Amino acid sequence: MTRLGVMTSGGDAPGMNAAIRSAVRIGCTLGCEMVGVQHGFAGLMAGDFRPLDVRAVGGIMQRGGTMLGSARAPEFKTEAGRQQALQALSDAGVDGLVIIGGNGTQTGAHALWQRGFPVVGVASTIDNDLVGSDITLGVDTALKIALEAIDRLKTTASSHRRGFLVEVMGRDCGYLALMAAIAGGAEAVTLPEIETDPEQVAADILAAYARGQSHAIVVSAEGSKYPAAALAEHFRTHQDQLGFDLRVVTLGHTQRGGAPGAFDRLLGTRLAAAAVERLATGQAGVLAGMLNGRIAFTPLDDVVSGRKTLDPDLIALARRLAT
Ligand code: F6P
Repeated sequence: MTRLGVMTSGGDAPGMNAAIRSAVRIGCTLGCEMVGVQHGFAGLMAGDFRPLDVRAVGGIMQRGGTMLGSARAPEFKTEAGRQQALQALSDAGVDGLVIIGGNGTQTGAHALWQRGFPVVGVASTIDNDLVGSDITLGVDTALKIALEAIDRLKTTASSHRRGFLVEVMGRDCGYLALMAAIAGGAEAVTLPEIETDPEQVAADILAAYARGQSHAIVVSAEGSKYPAAALAEHFRTHQDQLGFDLRVVTLGHTQRGGAPGAFDRLLGTRLAAAAVERLATGQAGVLAGMLNGRIAFTPLDDVVSGRKTLDPDLIALARRLAT
Protein backbone atom coordinates (compact mmCIF):
# COMPACT_ATOMS: atom_id res chain seq x y z
CA MET A 1 0.00 0.00 0.00
CA THR A 2 1.15 3.54 -0.75
CA ARG A 3 1.86 5.62 2.33
CA LEU A 4 1.52 9.37 1.83
CA GLY A 5 2.29 12.19 4.22
CA VAL A 6 0.62 15.57 4.58
CA MET A 7 2.18 18.57 6.27
CA THR A 8 1.80 22.32 6.75
CA SER A 9 4.74 24.67 7.07
CA GLY A 10 5.65 28.35 7.36
CA GLY A 11 3.04 30.91 8.40
CA ASP A 12 -0.31 29.26 9.03
CA ALA A 13 -3.21 30.33 6.85
CA PRO A 14 -6.99 30.04 7.38
CA GLY A 15 -8.14 27.02 5.37
CA MET A 16 -5.14 24.79 6.09
CA ASN A 17 -7.32 22.43 8.13
CA ALA A 18 -9.75 22.07 5.24
CA ALA A 19 -6.77 21.15 3.06
CA ILE A 20 -5.49 18.57 5.57
CA ARG A 21 -8.94 17.01 5.86
CA SER A 22 -9.32 16.82 2.11
CA ALA A 23 -5.87 15.34 1.50
CA VAL A 24 -6.45 12.67 4.13
CA ARG A 25 -9.97 11.74 3.07
CA ILE A 26 -9.28 11.68 -0.65
CA GLY A 27 -6.01 9.82 -0.05
CA CYS A 28 -7.91 7.18 1.96
CA THR A 29 -10.51 6.76 -0.79
CA LEU A 30 -7.64 6.15 -3.21
CA GLY A 31 -6.45 3.29 -0.99
CA CYS A 32 -3.47 5.14 0.47
CA GLU A 33 -2.37 5.05 4.08
CA MET A 34 -2.09 8.65 5.32
CA VAL A 35 0.26 10.10 7.90
CA GLY A 36 0.48 13.64 9.25
CA VAL A 37 3.84 15.35 9.71
CA GLN A 38 3.63 17.57 12.78
CA HIS A 39 5.21 21.04 13.12
CA GLY A 40 6.34 21.54 9.54
CA PHE A 41 9.90 20.89 8.38
CA ALA A 42 11.09 20.82 12.00
CA GLY A 43 8.81 17.82 12.62
CA LEU A 44 9.82 16.28 9.31
CA MET A 45 13.48 16.30 10.29
CA ALA A 46 12.61 14.86 13.71
CA GLY A 47 10.35 12.13 12.26
CA ASP A 48 7.38 13.55 14.17
CA PHE A 49 4.68 11.64 12.28
CA ARG A 50 1.20 10.43 13.26
CA PRO A 51 -1.24 8.17 11.44
CA LEU A 52 -4.35 9.93 10.12
CA ASP A 53 -7.56 8.22 9.09
CA VAL A 54 -10.82 9.73 7.89
CA ARG A 55 -12.14 10.19 11.43
CA ALA A 56 -8.96 11.86 12.71
CA VAL A 57 -9.66 14.85 10.49
CA GLY A 58 -13.36 15.25 11.41
CA GLY A 59 -14.55 18.56 12.87
CA ILE A 60 -11.47 20.57 11.87
CA MET A 61 -12.56 22.33 8.69
CA GLN A 62 -14.12 25.34 10.43
CA ARG A 63 -11.11 25.87 12.70
CA GLY A 64 -8.34 28.37 11.99
CA GLY A 65 -4.67 27.45 12.21
CA THR A 66 -3.44 23.97 11.40
CA MET A 67 -4.14 20.80 13.41
CA LEU A 68 -0.68 19.53 12.41
CA GLY A 69 1.13 22.59 13.70
CA SER A 70 3.63 24.65 11.77
CA ALA A 71 7.10 26.08 12.34
CA ARG A 72 9.84 28.19 10.86
CA ALA A 73 12.73 25.73 10.48
CA PRO A 74 16.00 27.39 9.41
CA GLU A 75 17.87 24.07 9.88
CA PHE A 76 15.94 22.66 6.93
CA LYS A 77 17.76 25.14 4.68
CA THR A 78 20.98 23.17 5.26
CA GLU A 79 21.94 20.02 3.36
CA ALA A 80 22.28 18.16 6.66
CA GLY A 81 18.71 19.11 7.60
CA ARG A 82 17.36 17.96 4.26
CA GLN A 83 19.18 14.63 4.44
CA GLN A 84 17.83 14.14 7.96
CA ALA A 85 14.29 14.68 6.66
CA LEU A 86 14.80 12.23 3.79
CA GLN A 87 16.10 9.64 6.25
CA ALA A 88 13.06 10.15 8.52
CA LEU A 89 10.73 9.69 5.54
CA SER A 90 12.54 6.53 4.49
CA ASP A 91 12.50 5.12 8.06
CA ALA A 92 8.72 5.71 8.26
CA GLY A 93 8.11 4.20 4.81
CA VAL A 94 6.52 7.39 3.45
CA ASP A 95 6.33 7.33 -0.35
CA GLY A 96 5.28 10.91 -1.06
CA LEU A 97 4.28 14.19 0.60
CA VAL A 98 1.56 16.81 0.14
CA ILE A 99 3.17 20.02 1.37
CA ILE A 100 0.83 22.88 2.21
CA GLY A 101 2.44 26.32 2.47
CA GLY A 102 3.82 29.46 0.86
CA ASN A 103 7.04 30.58 -0.76
CA GLY A 104 9.55 29.33 1.80
CA THR A 105 7.65 26.07 2.20
CA GLN A 106 7.53 25.40 -1.53
CA THR A 107 11.26 26.14 -1.73
CA GLY A 108 11.69 23.35 0.83
CA ALA A 109 9.34 21.11 -1.15
CA HIS A 110 11.40 21.79 -4.26
CA ALA A 111 14.58 20.81 -2.41
CA LEU A 112 13.08 17.41 -1.51
CA TRP A 113 11.87 16.94 -5.09
CA GLN A 114 15.35 17.78 -6.44
CA ARG A 115 16.73 15.04 -4.19
CA GLY A 116 14.36 12.49 -5.72
CA PHE A 117 11.51 12.51 -3.21
CA PRO A 118 7.95 12.82 -4.66
CA VAL A 119 6.14 15.95 -3.44
CA VAL A 120 3.11 17.96 -4.55
CA GLY A 121 2.61 21.43 -3.08
CA VAL A 122 -0.61 23.21 -2.15
CA ALA A 123 -0.47 27.00 -2.62
CA SER A 124 -1.15 28.39 0.84
CA THR A 125 -0.18 31.80 2.23
CA ILE A 126 -2.04 34.94 3.18
CA ASP A 127 0.63 36.92 1.27
CA ASN A 128 -0.57 35.79 -2.20
CA ASP A 129 3.01 35.97 -3.44
CA LEU A 130 3.23 32.49 -4.92
CA VAL A 131 3.72 31.93 -8.64
CA GLY A 132 1.34 29.18 -9.81
CA SER A 133 -1.84 30.42 -8.14
CA ASP A 134 -3.79 33.61 -8.84
CA ILE A 135 -5.10 33.38 -5.29
CA THR A 136 -3.58 31.34 -2.48
CA LEU A 137 -5.18 29.69 0.51
CA GLY A 138 -5.95 32.13 3.35
CA VAL A 139 -5.90 35.36 1.35
CA ASP A 140 -9.65 35.77 1.22
CA THR A 141 -10.10 35.32 4.98
CA ALA A 142 -7.12 37.56 5.82
CA LEU A 143 -8.52 40.27 3.58
CA LYS A 144 -11.93 40.00 5.24
CA ILE A 145 -10.26 40.46 8.65
CA ALA A 146 -8.39 43.54 7.39
CA LEU A 147 -11.61 45.02 6.02
CA GLU A 148 -13.50 44.39 9.25
CA ALA A 149 -10.73 46.21 11.10
CA ILE A 150 -10.76 49.15 8.68
CA ASP A 151 -14.56 49.42 8.92
CA ARG A 152 -14.30 49.53 12.71
CA LEU A 153 -11.48 52.05 12.64
CA LYS A 154 -13.53 54.31 10.40
CA THR A 155 -16.30 54.57 12.98
CA THR A 156 -14.01 55.62 15.80
CA ALA A 157 -11.96 57.79 13.41
CA SER A 158 -15.11 59.65 12.35
CA SER A 159 -16.11 60.31 15.98
CA HIS A 160 -12.81 62.07 16.64
CA ARG A 161 -12.04 63.31 13.13
CA ARG A 162 -8.84 61.29 13.04
CA GLY A 163 -6.70 59.53 10.49
CA PHE A 164 -5.48 55.95 10.86
CA LEU A 165 -2.31 54.46 9.43
CA VAL A 166 -3.23 50.77 9.18
CA GLU A 167 -0.43 48.28 8.63
CA VAL A 168 -1.29 44.95 7.02
CA MET A 169 0.82 41.82 6.57
CA GLY A 170 2.10 40.42 3.28
CA ARG A 171 5.86 40.24 3.70
CA ASP A 172 7.40 41.61 0.45
CA CYS A 173 4.13 41.50 -1.45
CA GLY A 174 1.61 44.36 -1.48
CA TYR A 175 -1.40 42.31 -2.62
CA LEU A 176 -3.24 42.28 0.72
CA ALA A 177 -2.56 45.98 1.28
CA LEU A 178 -3.70 46.97 -2.19
CA MET A 179 -6.92 44.94 -2.01
CA ALA A 180 -7.62 46.21 1.52
CA ALA A 181 -7.09 49.79 0.30
CA ILE A 182 -9.45 49.39 -2.64
CA ALA A 183 -12.17 47.45 -0.80
CA GLY A 184 -11.73 49.46 2.41
CA GLY A 185 -11.97 52.84 0.70
CA ALA A 186 -8.55 54.09 1.80
CA GLU A 187 -7.20 57.55 0.95
CA ALA A 188 -3.73 56.19 0.23
CA VAL A 189 -1.72 52.97 0.19
CA THR A 190 2.00 52.23 0.51
CA LEU A 191 3.31 49.13 -1.27
CA PRO A 192 6.66 47.33 -1.52
CA GLU A 193 6.30 47.19 -5.30
CA ILE A 194 6.26 50.94 -5.94
CA GLU A 195 8.24 53.90 -4.70
CA THR A 196 6.27 55.84 -2.08
CA ASP A 197 6.70 59.55 -1.54
CA PRO A 198 5.56 60.10 2.05
CA GLU A 199 4.80 63.74 1.22
CA GLN A 200 2.30 62.52 -1.40
CA VAL A 201 0.63 60.46 1.33
CA ALA A 202 0.60 63.60 3.51
CA ALA A 203 -1.01 65.53 0.65
CA ASP A 204 -3.67 62.79 0.24
CA ILE A 205 -4.48 62.96 3.97
CA LEU A 206 -4.69 66.75 3.92
CA ALA A 207 -6.85 66.68 0.77
CA ALA A 208 -9.33 64.36 2.51
CA TYR A 209 -9.47 66.81 5.43
CA ALA A 210 -9.89 69.78 3.13
CA ARG A 211 -12.83 68.24 1.31
CA GLY A 212 -14.58 67.72 4.64
CA GLN A 213 -14.13 64.00 5.27
CA SER A 214 -14.56 62.92 8.86
CA HIS A 215 -11.69 60.42 8.68
CA ALA A 216 -8.74 59.31 6.56
CA ILE A 217 -7.39 55.79 6.17
CA VAL A 218 -3.93 54.99 4.88
CA VAL A 219 -3.19 51.29 4.34
CA SER A 220 0.48 50.47 4.47
CA ALA A 221 2.03 47.13 3.56
CA GLU A 222 4.45 45.83 6.18
CA GLY A 223 7.07 45.29 3.48
CA SER A 224 6.84 48.77 1.99
CA LYS A 225 9.53 51.40 2.52
CA TYR A 226 7.03 53.27 4.68
CA PRO A 227 5.11 50.84 6.90
CA ALA A 228 2.72 52.55 9.32
CA ALA A 229 5.20 53.32 12.11
CA ALA A 230 7.75 54.72 9.62
CA LEU A 231 5.08 56.95 8.09
CA ALA A 232 4.07 58.22 11.53
CA GLU A 233 7.71 58.92 12.33
CA HIS A 234 8.13 60.78 9.05
CA PHE A 235 5.06 62.92 9.84
CA ARG A 236 6.15 63.58 13.46
CA THR A 237 7.54 67.04 12.79
CA HIS A 238 4.61 68.30 10.72
CA GLN A 239 1.66 66.16 11.86
CA ASP A 240 -0.22 69.37 12.75
CA GLN A 241 -0.23 70.30 9.05
CA LEU A 242 -2.12 67.17 7.94
CA GLY A 243 -5.53 68.20 9.25
CA PHE A 244 -6.30 64.90 10.99
CA ASP A 245 -4.76 63.77 14.22
CA LEU A 246 -3.14 60.42 13.33
CA ARG A 247 -3.04 57.02 15.04
CA VAL A 248 -1.19 53.84 14.06
CA VAL A 249 -2.76 50.35 14.08
CA THR A 250 -0.81 47.23 13.14
CA LEU A 251 -3.08 44.32 12.27
CA GLY A 252 -0.27 41.76 12.25
CA HIS A 253 -1.09 38.17 13.12
CA THR A 254 -4.79 38.84 13.73
CA GLN A 255 -5.01 38.49 9.94
CA ARG A 256 -3.93 34.85 10.14
CA GLY A 257 -6.21 33.88 13.01
CA GLY A 258 -9.81 32.81 13.28
CA ALA A 259 -12.16 30.69 11.25
CA PRO A 260 -11.65 30.39 7.48
CA GLY A 261 -14.42 31.77 5.29
CA ALA A 262 -16.32 29.76 2.70
CA PHE A 263 -13.90 30.61 -0.10
CA ASP A 264 -10.85 29.33 1.78
CA ARG A 265 -12.59 26.17 2.99
CA LEU A 266 -13.49 25.36 -0.59
CA LEU A 267 -10.12 26.38 -2.02
CA GLY A 268 -8.20 24.28 0.53
CA THR A 269 -10.49 21.32 -0.05
CA ARG A 270 -10.18 21.48 -3.84
CA LEU A 271 -6.44 22.12 -4.03
CA ALA A 272 -5.53 19.39 -1.56
CA ALA A 273 -7.83 16.84 -3.24
CA ALA A 274 -6.16 17.58 -6.57
CA ALA A 275 -2.70 17.42 -4.99
CA VAL A 276 -3.17 14.02 -3.35
CA GLU A 277 -4.73 12.57 -6.49
CA ARG A 278 -1.77 13.77 -8.49
CA LEU A 279 0.70 12.34 -5.99
CA ALA A 280 -1.09 8.98 -5.81
CA THR A 281 -0.76 8.62 -9.59
CA GLY A 282 2.98 9.20 -9.36
CA GLN A 283 3.10 12.67 -10.92
CA ALA A 284 5.05 14.87 -8.56
CA GLY A 285 7.22 17.99 -8.53
CA VAL A 286 4.35 20.41 -9.01
CA LEU A 287 2.29 22.96 -7.08
CA ALA A 288 -1.52 22.76 -7.03
CA GLY A 289 -2.95 26.26 -7.46
CA MET A 290 -5.85 28.14 -8.99
CA LEU A 291 -5.18 29.79 -12.37
CA ASN A 292 -7.94 31.53 -14.35
CA GLY A 293 -10.57 29.99 -12.09
CA ARG A 294 -9.37 26.41 -12.59
CA ILE A 295 -7.11 24.09 -10.65
CA ALA A 296 -3.75 24.00 -12.34
CA PHE A 297 -0.38 22.36 -11.69
CA THR A 298 2.80 24.38 -12.08
CA PRO A 299 6.26 22.78 -11.95
CA LEU A 300 8.00 23.58 -8.67
CA ASP A 301 11.03 24.66 -10.75
CA ASP A 302 8.91 27.55 -12.10
CA VAL A 303 7.32 28.30 -8.73
CA VAL A 304 10.63 28.83 -6.95
CA SER A 305 12.31 30.75 -9.78
CA GLY A 306 9.43 33.12 -10.61
CA ARG A 307 8.24 36.32 -8.97
CA LYS A 308 4.60 37.34 -8.84
CA THR A 309 3.81 40.95 -9.69
CA LEU A 310 0.93 43.23 -8.77
CA ASP A 311 -1.53 44.21 -11.49
CA PRO A 312 -0.64 47.85 -12.38
CA ASP A 313 -4.29 48.48 -13.33
CA LEU A 314 -5.32 47.75 -9.75
CA ILE A 315 -2.68 50.12 -8.39
CA ALA A 316 -4.00 52.82 -10.73
CA LEU A 317 -7.59 52.03 -9.71
CA ALA A 318 -6.75 52.48 -6.02
CA ARG A 319 -5.36 55.93 -6.80
CA ARG A 320 -8.31 56.99 -8.94
CA LEU A 321 -10.88 55.89 -6.34
CA ALA A 322 -9.29 57.88 -3.51
CA THR A 323 -10.91 61.19 -4.30
O1 F6P B 1 4.01 34.67 5.27
C1 F6P B 1 2.94 34.93 6.11
C2 F6P B 1 3.29 36.00 7.09
O2 F6P B 1 2.16 36.22 7.92
C3 F6P B 1 3.78 37.32 6.50
O3 F6P B 1 2.72 38.13 6.04
C4 F6P B 1 4.53 37.90 7.66
O4 F6P B 1 5.53 38.80 7.22
C5 F6P B 1 5.15 36.69 8.30
O5 F6P B 1 4.36 35.58 7.91
C6 F6P B 1 5.22 36.74 9.80
O6 F6P B 1 5.94 35.64 10.22
P1 F6P B 1 5.90 35.05 11.68
O7 F6P B 1 4.56 34.39 11.88
O8 F6P B 1 7.00 34.05 11.71
O9 F6P B 1 6.07 36.18 12.63
